[in-house]
Amino acid sequence: MPTPKRLHVITWGCQMNAYDSARMADVLAPLGYAPATAPEDADMVILNTCHIRDRATEKVFSELGRLRVIKAARAEAGRPTILAVAGCVAQAEGAEILARAPYVDIVLGPQTYHRLPEMVAQASRAAGAVINTDFPAESKFDHLPDAAAAQTAGGLTAFLTIQEGCNKFCSFCVVPYTRGAEASRPAASILAEARRMVAGGAREITLLGQNVNAWHGEGAGGTLAGLLTALAGIPGLIRLRYTTSHPRDMDAALIAAHASLPQLMPYLHLPVQSGSDRMLAAMNRRHTAAEYLDIVGRLRAARPDLAMSSDFIVGHPGETEADFEATLQLIREVRFAQAYSFKYSQRPGTPAAGAPFQVAEAEKDRRLQALQDLLRSQQAAFNASCVGLTVPVLVTGPGRHPGQIAGRAPWLQPVHLTAPAALIGQEIPVCIVAAHTNSLSGEFLKEKACA
Ligand code: SAH
Ligand code: SF4
Ligand code: F3S
Repeated sequence: MPTPKRLHVITWGCQMNAYDSARMADVLAPLGYAPATAPEDADMVILNTCHIRDRATEKVFSELGRLRVIKAARAEAGRPTILAVAGCVAQAEGAEILARAPYVDIVLGPQTYHRLPEMVAQASRAAGAVINTDFPAESKFDHLPDAAAAQTAGGLTAFLTIQEGCNKFCSFCVVPYTRGAEASRPAASILAEARRMVAGGAREITLLGQNVNAWHGEGAGGTLAGLLTALAGIPGLIRLRYTTSHPRDMDAALIAAHASLPQLMPYLHLPVQSGSDRMLAAMNRRHTAAEYLDIVGRLRAARPDLAMSSDFIVGHPGETEADFEATLQLIREVRFAQAYSFKYSQRPGTPAAGAPFQVAEAEKDRRLQALQDLLRSQQAAFNASCVGLTVPVLVTGPGRHPGQIAGRAPWLQPVHLTAPAALIGQEIPVCIVAAHTNSLSGEFLKEKACA
């Protein structure tokens, strides 16, 4: 029996990082590591980092400064701590992390965490710090324990990474450098993991990938549409989602799957970044605004209740007022239910970082404000349009107040209602009675429709 130890994982960044954090915990469980809620109680702390925007690296070093104090206090009490930095900043900075923070024991990239046990053994022998930021030939997915079910037990909604990396090289983005080239897992291994998740209680699975709809793994016809169809055949799996997609890979079969698979939720996150063709070209997005609108039109024809979400960047190098206005125009045409928007942030090593005509910070602030005002009003309008509808709600847990339960609408909004806790885990018909900024209130229906 391994000696019981405690692990604390701090996760920043995207859902794929959250998935990776759970898998790192799986890999370390056989070594005796159980979860700790605070770094003060942990024999090992992993900081799983993100490099996508802003002062990502500075944020990592400032958090490491805090962890250093905790590690020193524990050492004084005779309790050593292994400190690991994982994720996209680890991949990008590598040895620089050890140079600036020599108290770090392990630096590992997103593709090597299946080798954590060796790295931990090496670090505990005090053989010096360990760096592993390779892109190994073997896939980490083939070397992970079948513990996904244990991790998601009791979790009704689960995330499952099916694809990683990116070959698109958008001008502004670090992901192709930190996550490496596109790689898809085989269908058989994804289906097996999904079945384990469902056996562990999952009712909804969200497939994850930096370019999830570029999935082209072995089996299931090699397309995401084929994979979704196979997953829809798993008994007990009542909801499917996938994120994040690229417009270029939104093929006809995938659009048709939105019409034919009732499990596929009528909500799609499809980043567009800009509504200006000039900017889309500068960003190397390889589609036009009209092509994006055409995809949205075909999706809505396939599934009329489909709601759209997206990502936007304001102030990419060269963006003029007219380009920005084209983005607002695209937003008015699509009417988004939800969206994320960011000021362009220069990422070292990316093509846009060195481009001339960087937009002034104050101008980026102004554009972001205007964009977010418009998106907020669309979100409010979308939520208001849900009032009076009967919607299926997957009840995920207790609500904020006694006697309340909470769940998710098909379009991802949290729904609060007064109903028995025994309904947790079920999908129930709910009449939406009020809309708030980020959530809905509903009434549980014994009948199947609003009165
Ligand atoms: N793979 C996805 C998203 C990856 S990153 C896609 O292709 O869309 C998530 C979002 O972060 C991006 O959609 C983009 O809007 C934003 N983003 C990425 N790099 C950025 C940068 N340098 N500055 C500002 N926002 C950025
Ligand atoms: Fe980044 Fe573009 Fe790849 Fe998305 S498609 S991860 S934005 S390079
Ligand atoms: Fe961040 Fe890496 Fe995800 S840069 S958004 S953690 S892929």
